[in-house]
Amino acid sequence: MTLQPPLRRAIGVFDSGVGGLTVLEALRRRMPHRDFVYLGDTARVPYGRKPPEMVVDFANGIAEFLCGLGVEGLVVACNTASAVALPGLAERCPVPVWGVIDPGVEAATRATRGGTVGVIGTKATIGSGAYQRRLQAHGLETWAQACPMLVHVVEEGLADSSEAEILVRHYLDGRPEIDALILGCTHYPLLRGVLQRVVGDAVTLVDSAEVTAETVSAAMDGAARPKAGTDAHGAGRVVHFVTGDPAAFAHTARVIGGVDGEMVPLPVTALDRRTRGTAASTARMDSR
Ligand code: DGL
Repeated sequence: MTLQPPLRRAIGVFDSGVGGLTVLEALRRRMPHRDFVYLGDTARVPYGRKPPEMVVDFANGIAEFLCGLGVEGLVVACNTASAVALPGLAERCPVPVWGVIDPGVEAATRATRGGTVGVIGTKATIGSGAYQRRLQAHGLETWAQACPMLVHVVEEGLADSSEAEILVRHYLDGRPEIDALILGCTHYPLLRGVLQRVVGDAVTLVDSAEVTAETVSAAMDGAARPKAGTDAHGAGRVVHFVTGDPAAFAHTARVIGGVDGEMVPLPVTALDRRTRGTAASTARMDSR
């Protein structure tokens, strides 16, 4: 598939749904001059309760699709896919690939004072031990908890609801004393208000978006990058591919200020190597 007008210096970003938009926002603030292609695989969300090999398959298909659009780099804005698919993706892709777990750990090492860090994520992310291994390698004490229902709450647009608070209290009930909590799923920053209320102000909530953006912009643009922290988005273009219902995606994304850019519905078969040719060419360009 080729987009018209063609992309310029684009970076591909993907997640199972709206969660990765939190990372996309940070990337755009750091690199306002670049184009971005975001893929929200909402037809197959949640990834976190699927077998790892299935998520690896999804991630490979998405990476091939985005690389086929000519992106210069790929950001896996999904902890689940980063936990289970990253080393393989980095080997397969012709462009640099970044995940969100190492940046999340880096952010936690900067945030903790006492060295006891909590991490919450999907079943697959927590089950993979990806965070726990890295945190322990930094000498940090770790408490980890899977919170499978939270992705649904966010995707349903209920991030700031009493239902969300009940679930968060339930999952965090057994936590030891921690001074930093890693939001190890890119959907969770959308629950920041509820999470902070439950853990209290003494606990720093850590998400990987800013450190990921810092790492990617340093690698892609080096010293030439524009001043960090630029608030306004620059002239770069953003195209969102959505495999599920684009209206539902736009509705949920309103929590973080909405979807800014073009929206292209994409049949999920376009991400499957066996059916890609025909399906991709039928994706409709629907400028908003
Ligand atoms: N937002 C993703 C993550 O960071 C995936 C959540 C899901 O689809 O289960 O893990």
